[in-house]
Amino acid sequence: MVDPSQERNLTFSKIKTAYQDFYQRLKGLENTPPYRSTKSGMWATSVAEEIYHAFCHFELDQYNHVADLGSGDGIVVVIASLFTQATGYEIDEWLYQQSKKISHSLNLSKATFLRKDFFQADLSAYDLLYLYPDKPIYELEKHLLATWSGRLLVNGPHFPPCHLRKIAECESFAGRFALYESP
Ligand SMILES: C[S@@+](CC[C@H](N)C(=O)[O-])C[C@H]1O[C@@H](n2cnc3c(N)ncnc32)[C@H](O)[C@@H]1O
Repeated sequence: MVDPSQERNLTFSKIKTAYQDFYQRLKGLENTPPYRSTKSGMWATSVAEEIYHAFCHFELDQYNHVADLGSGDGIVVVIASLFTQATGYEIDEWLYQQSKKISHSLNLSKATFLRKDFFQADLSAYDLLYLYPDKPIYELEKHLLATWSGRLLVNGPHFPPCHLRKIAECESFAGRFALYESP
């Protein structure tokens, strides 16, 4: 019998390869990581190994349903779906299409993508939200405090929430993840 965590590691390797291929195709002649502006901000990607490390550290399988607010090319949702049900909200049509395409090619049944503004979404079904912010999150935090309760995992030290309570941190290879809880 295959050990479930071994099976998860194996699928994670396939995910990593699929995204490496995608980024390679995007790079063309410019050898820079993917980065571009969308209608609602900047798209940059979380790093596969760091996400996987953080999700193992924070035991993502203890959550029922995770949502990535601004899911970009879907890398976070696809990796989260190795642990639990995962949904991504992305406003940009092209990024939304890419995330669906990559996820279907990997045959991952627990990953869902919605082309939607997360401010317009009912987030009550999610016990964990993930955010890789590209700007201060005052408005989003206000919205969450008024409409949602649960935990928020923030990638990066630059735009921390002000009113949610920090309950844990995880240093990663090059970055940092912090876990917050609504009061
Ligand atoms: C910094 S990227 C993070 C992508 C992905 N979460 C990751 O970690 O790889 C932020 C993304 O959020 C999207 N975004 C920003 N505001 C949004 C909104 N209100 N609703 C949906 N998507 C949004 C942007 O289009 C962009 O793709």
